[in-house]
Amino acid sequence: MTSAPDGPPGAALGSLELAALRARQRAQQIEEELARDPSRFRVLTGERPTGPLHLGHLFGTVENRVRLQRSGVDTLLVVADYQVITDRDVAGDVRGAVREVVLDYLAAGLDPELTTIFTHSAVPALHQLLLPFLSLVTVAELDRNPTVKAELAATGGRALTGLLLTYPVHQAADILFCRANLVPVGRDQLPHLETTRTIARRFNQRYAGAEPFFPEPDALLSTAPVVLGTDGAKMSKSAGNAIALGADTDTTVRAIRSARTDGDRHITYEPQRRPEVANLLLLTGLCTGRTPQEVAEDIGGRGAGVLKSLLADALLDYLAPLRARRAELAADPQVVHDVLTRGNARANELADETIREVRRLMRMLL
Ligand code: TRP
Repeated sequence: MTSAPDGPPGAALGSLELAALRARQRAQQIEEELARDPSRFRVLTGERPTGPLHLGHLFGTVENRVRLQRSGVDTLLVVADYQVITDRDVAGDVRGAVREVVLDYLAAGLDPELTTIFTHSAVPALHQLLLPFLSLVTVAELDRNPTVKAELAATGGRALTGLLLTYPVHQAADILFCRANLVPVGRDQLPHLETTRTIARRFNQRYAGAEPFFPEPDALLSTAPVVLGTDGAKMSKSAGNAIALGADTDTTVRAIRSARTDGDRHITYEPQRRPEVANLLLLTGLCTGRTPQEVAEDIGGRGAGVLKSLLADALLDYLAPLRARRAELAADPQVVHDVLTRGNARANELADETIREVRRLMRMLL
């Protein structure tokens, strides 16, 4: 393998730790700039449609997106449908999953007047960016991506496919097709942001002359506390420990009742020593605008049963408007279709403009 186009091998993509450090240092500055002049930013973020969204998404990212959207930042959300097949062999009912995700977005307050919601498979020019982008990274660099390694390890012995190896480059295309400069993500996505920044920088150096064409986007690391699932591990669809935003009352109450706790009746907020109890306190706090410590003091020696009842009431109250809106939207089959048609049209306009400019810079236009 040859060395990276702009530096010695091994020094090219930077480590996850460095990236996390820089993201944390930049966060404060970015928040200040956002408050001063939201028009300087274009936000792109999204997820792969592998099923409906859950509480971890809501408190971790979706509420932050609603906040960004309301602050006047141009926001785009990609439903990364091709990414579904990065770590599995069959795509399943992608259309159904996309529909669930979009319903969750809308119910949570994302407004298609302010936020462009699109599926990346509907935007051909976005994928065309992959060709020049792939030429700007080495296989050695792709091999080092810790998130790709973790995802491969979780596939239960599958061989590494070309798509899984290169999906961070695909993700760079998701971000750079609209020249987004701010990407709200969780920590696991930081390596992909590093790849995106590297690609932007190398493209600019190689093709753009004095005026950089692509921005080097910043990650906006979520400051929200990590919500755990009912078993005390990180909440995720695949772990079967999630409470879906659109779940009904019975399912929600049953999930809370079955949540793991510990043997100590005296309720205290100790995230290190008592992660499961701390998580239930955190969720109750998030739903009632209190700190988890306050909730713990309220409950005192009344035990985990009382904590669970409090959480069930608080959560059902908190989610009631979202769930009512979701049911209304779901009853009209046209809504999701219209939102995506409109979002895909705008995404295509932006992507067509970008690929034209890329081809011009690469001297491919007639
Ligand atoms: N890879 C992300 C995930 O698995 C989803 C995603 C696809 C994404 N394209 C993106 C996130 C662009 C941020 C920006 O969650």
